Amino acid sequence: MRAVQLETHGGPDVLEVVDADRPDPGSDELLLEVAAAGINPVDTYFRDGSYEPVSLPFTPGVDVSGTVVETGDAVEGFEPGDRVFGTGIGNATAQGSYAEYATIPTDRVVHLPDGVDATQAGAAGVATVTAWRALIDHAALDPADYCLVHGGSGGVGHAAVQIAAAVSARVLTTASPDYHDALADLGAETVLDYGREDLADAVLEASDGGVDAILDHRLDDYLQFDADVAATGARVVGIGENSPDPGFTNDGAARSKDVNYQFMSMFNTPDLRVPLRGVAHLLETDNLSIEIAETYGLEEAGEAQRAVMEDSVFGKLVIEP
Ligand SMILES: NC(=O)c1ccc[n+]([C@@H]2O[C@H](COP(=O)([O-])OP(=O)(O)OC[C@H]3O[C@@H](n4cnc5c(N)ncnc54)[C@H](OP(=O)(O)O)[C@@H]3O)[C@@H](O)[C@H]2O)c1
Repeated sequence: MRAVQLETHGGPDVLEVVDADRPDPGSDELLLEVAAAGINPVDTYFRDGSYEPVSLPFTPGVDVSGTVVETGDAVEGFEPGDRVFGTGIGNATAQGSYAEYATIPTDRVVHLPDGVDATQAGAAGVATVTAWRALIDHAALDPADYCLVHGGSGGVGHAAVQIAAAVSARVLTTASPDYHDALADLGAETVLDYGREDLADAVLEASDGGVDAILDHRLDDYLQFDADVAATGARVVGIGENSPDPGFTNDGAARSKDVNYQFMSMFNTPDLRVPLRGVAHLLETDNLSIEIAETYGLEEAGEAQRAVMEDSVFGKLVIEP
């Protein structure tokens, strides 16, 4: 089979397409013919060596959708021919999805409902599970909440806007002006340019004086901002940053409002099938759509990984082998 591999850590040009043996599924694994493999920032961290070590040579790709070709001896509930999607491979414990075939343990994969597009599902994993974990599990979003999603046009952001809207929360999001109309179409009540000088005032005005839940993917930019726009008892879920030294300039803003901070990694999800089943339901009922900004072939994996870090796109990039 054709697979993307890296022999050494480095920039996007270390990714090459090679002829590799088709993997055999372990006893609790499925062998999939890959339909689509989403591109995520985390794929680049495993590639450049900044995340936990992976054994080389290594095939990247955390997200996958595809058709079951073979099942391991102990697998129950999946048959060859089933359409599935999942996430959580392509790291220290498993080779990834940038390939014609990939294996996935059954505790990281669920069935894809009839009618749901396999390309969208292949790009859904990290973005949707992270948004679900942040807003449903950690922020315990309720229908009357004002929910602020920073960066609503990104992979996680556009999923978070839709998941928050699906539980009838009142969604505020920030984005570049080009994406405002599309985010309103996805369910955001208020869309604000993240570059505006008076952003905090605008958030406070649009949320009756403070937001109840915040999804923050740039903690070094927004940790203090989050405290400043929080309502009393707000929940702030932090998923990322550009530099690892976020800090408060006035922690009293958070303390005086009993703001709860929860930082998280999708890789700590106790059972990935729980949010994946929720995402499958939202996809099937048209409460969630994954916007595919660009599709790539395996040979373009390096370009796709460059683009996910450097280009401005709405939604997700995806490889179709
Ligand atoms: N902890 C976890 O489990 C977890 C899981 C998934 C992702 N993450 C992290 O979360 C971050 C986002 O991931 P992603 O896949 O959504 O990336 P992405 O698709 O590249 O999205 C990033 C978004 O940030 C926006 N942005 C840029 N500058 C901004 C600013 N100053 N204020 C607000 N938004 C701004 C971008 O908008 P423009 O296009 O307008 O620049 C883009 O929409 C990454 O750091 C990733 O590593 C963490």
